Amino acid sequence: MADLATTYLGLSLPSPVILASSSLSNRIENFQLAESHGAGAVVLRSLFEEQIEALESERESALAMGSDSTAEAQSFFPSQRVGPAEYLQLVARAKRAVKIPVIGSINCVAPGSWSHYARQIAEAGADALEVNLYAVQADPTVSAAQVEARHEEAVQSILDAVKIPVSVKLSPFYTALANVLARLEGRGAKGFVLFNRFLQPDISLERMSLQNVMPLSQPFEALLPLRWIALLHGRVRADLAASSGVHDASGVAKQILAGATVVQVASALVKNGVQHIGHLRDGLEEWMDRRGFSSVEDFRGTLSQRVVRDPGAFERAQYVHLILSQNS
Ligand SMILES: Cc1cc2nc3c(=O)[nH]c(=O)nc-3n(C[C@H](O)[C@H](O)[C@H](O)COP(=O)(O)O)c2cc1C
Repeated sequence: MADLATTYLGLSLPSPVILASSSLSNRIENFQLAESHGAGAVVLRSLFEEQIEALESERESALAMGSDSTAEAQSFFPSQRVGPAEYLQLVARAKRAVKIPVIGSINCVAPGSWSHYARQIAEAGADALEVNLYAVQADPTVSAAQVEARHEEAVQSILDAVKIPVSVKLSPFYTALANVLARLEGRGAKGFVLFNRFLQPDISLERMSLQNVMPLSQPFEALLPLRWIALLHGRVRADLAASSGVHDASGVAKQILAGATVVQVASALVKNGVQHIGHLRDGLEEWMDRRGFSSVEDFRGTLSQRVVRDPGAFERAQYVHLILSQNS
């Protein structure tokens, strides 16, 4: 039988399938369910910078004006979330409830006074901390270099505050993503979660108002982290966690073949229940047994860019080839 155990952020995990930060990850029962179905770790819902500083961001206020929200969208907004004190309790309770690693999550856009909460999350027992750099930059006077500098400072302020390993959850929308990763790794980030998904407000023509929807992901969305993980594997030393569009065991295997250390899953569990993690875990084990892999290390990164026979497939060469071969 294949051994699914692995190491992520220096922590020992029984399997590479992780319950991602989501609406499921603020309930102790879900952590226990995830563990009993073979999850390698759990990531708690994010504590938002805005929550901590008790300030409403301009973006949120703008969206709130005349907005119409679905339950899912509401669950994503800081105003609907627990406060910092309850969050620390959640960390402590989660630690008592499960043996697998418990990863805290902070959502921030810039350095600030909130960063001392990172230390409190660590003191509450979190085994690691995920920093979700979720920010939409619409100010035409702010350059990419300024945005990246702020992100670096925010991560640095957390790294200064805690001794537990810190991973950074990034959006795919950086011009030079590999460089951003390399710089954050240089500062001490031990892992990267690729990628977070953005809330995209829609417009309701009936109500003539904004409609905040956050539909669950679709499997095709896994191709974006798949490509970037394949490109980055072996180029950075940090662990790479795939996030977006993984719905079945084959999706898990593909991300690891590309080079992922672990795979985080949210939408598939919101849709099918936390116990679906068991299907992902068992399906991965069956596939490994069929292929003769005794551990995840046996095949991790074996289809990353540095290893495949056609490295251009992950970059522009294949794009040009595909576009030019289309005849309608
Ligand atoms: C309902 C819901 C709530 C979420 N809340 C958070 C959150 O608090 N913090 C965070 O970093 N990501 C959050 N996410 C994003 C997920 O962790 C994940 O990155 C994203 O959904 C892509 O993975 P998936 O395709 O498996 O859903 C949330 C996702 C969903 C569906």
